[in-house]
Amino acid sequence: MAASSRTTGVRPATLADAVSLTRFEQRAFTGYYAAHRFSEAQFRYYLARPTTIAHVVERGGTIVAYALGAQQTASRRHLVRLHSIAVDAAERDRHLGSRLLDAFLTEARRRRCRRAYLEVAADNSPARAVFTHHGFVMTARLHAFYSRSVDGLRMRCDLMRAHSGSKRGGRPPQRG
Ligand SMILES: CC(C)(COP(=O)(O)OP(=O)(O)OC[C@H]1O[C@@H](n2cnc3c(N)ncnc32)[C@H](O)[C@@H]1OP(=O)(O)O)[C@@H](O)C(=O)NCCC(=O)NCCS
Repeated sequence: MAASSRTTGVRPATLADAVSLTRFEQRAFTGYYAAHRFSEAQFRYYLARPTTIAHVVERGGTIVAYALGAQQTASRRHLVRLHSIAVDAAERDRHLGSRLLDAFLTEARRRRCRRAYLEVAADNSPARAVFTHHGFVMTARLHAFYSRSVDGLRMRCDLMRAHSGSKRGGRPPQRG
């Protein structure tokens, strides 16, 4: 990674990003999350589908952050699930995660989705903080979801009510 290069803006991911995303995934998800990593085949599957919403940020031609989710189909097309979001450890706390989540939720609203949901590990404070800032509230605790000893939390965001949690967009009212 070139120290002098800057991070790019958030851009939509394409099928051509599948290999870079797979490499990044290996670095970004460790510990109990490693068992839940996406494979290259899974990235290819999602990036080829029109229901997928995926964005990346690069530095020096290398992906350093991404978010990927999918709009449901048929009678559930008003729902969108965020499958994954990650920022390289060296790039955290600079609002890349917030910007990616903004892009994801903006595109979901453009597609007329009414509700977003996700699962996050109960002990993942940074991720929970980002999601809460963007209007997500906890709706369920999922016992042993990530490993025998790590529960998951299901979180939901009402897209008709919640607004951007970024500094520029202002914070949504905190609920729950
Ligand atoms: C979760 C993650 C994507 C956040 O990315 P990030 O770019 O560091 O997040 P941001 O800089 O946009 O932070 C947004 C807010 O979250 C909060 N936050 C960020 N890191 C935090 C931390 N370590 N502890 C508590 N709050 C934190 C901050 O309060 C920040 O709010 P601010 O606007 O008041 O500064 C990143 O930590 C990550 O990649 N983690 C590993 C992968 C992962 O766990 N993904 C989630 C799986 S569901």
